Amino acid sequence: MERIDKIISEELNIGRSAAKALIKSGRALLNGSAVRSFGEKADMSRDLLIVDGKKINRRKFVYIMMNKPKGVISSSDGRRTGEKTVLDILPPEMKRKGLFPAGRLDKNTTGFVLITDDGEFAHKILSPKNHIPKVYVAELDKPFTPEIAAAFASGVEIGGEKCLPALLESCGENRKKAIVTIKQGKYHQIKRMFKKYSIEVTELRRVKMGGLRLDENLAEGECRYLGQEEIELIKTL
Ligand code: URA
Repeated sequence: MERIDKIISEELNIGRSAAKALIKSGRALLNGSAVRSFGEKADMSRDLLIVDGKKINRRKFVYIMMNKPKGVISSSDGRRTGEKTVLDILPPEMKRKGLFPAGRLDKNTTGFVLITDDGEFAHKILSPKNHIPKVYVAELDKPFTPEIAAAFASGVEIGGEKCLPALLESCGENRKKAIVTIKQGKYHQIKRMFKKYSIEVTELRRVKMGGLRLDENLAEGECRYLGQEEIELIKTL
């Protein structure tokens, strides 16, 4: 059994308070009767939940976009090191068993983290074979040169391995702020690629995964469910 306001919030991709308002105005019917209280529960394998005349189907998996703040790790378990994880900072109503961050951002990197319980989807978007681009904005301690951009394009070697070609573009007038697009997720990859040319990354923010941009309305630390079209967009090149 699950709370109906939670089901509506997740399936209609609306906040919990919007789901409650919708219930309050009598727009949700459970087995033909208006849902009376927010706390009411349903068994979605058996019960029929209708909102505004449409049947609500329970999705098997959830997909959450988080704007990761600095200082939290994108791991499922921080107990060993005593650090806070992206799962720890999820609002209580979004927490559920099986969630994990699909891919890693460094502790001091901010921006788009996808949290899901769909292992197959995570594998699909993270596997370098599928070439799903991840786009970052990097602030640098000194400007990059066109030669460095050319080296990124042909694949920088780090740790004895050649990275896949990456796109390095300037963001704005000077080349101290860059847009970097990579298609794999090696440990500290972007920082190490710049380090190779004696450039330090002072700030790093992931702004896009596949064809889906980080929602500008999410403040750091905030998150929201993704709708079906958004989930599909992540898979686009
Ligand atoms: N590259 C990095 O160096 N750090 C990240 O968090 C992501 C990509």
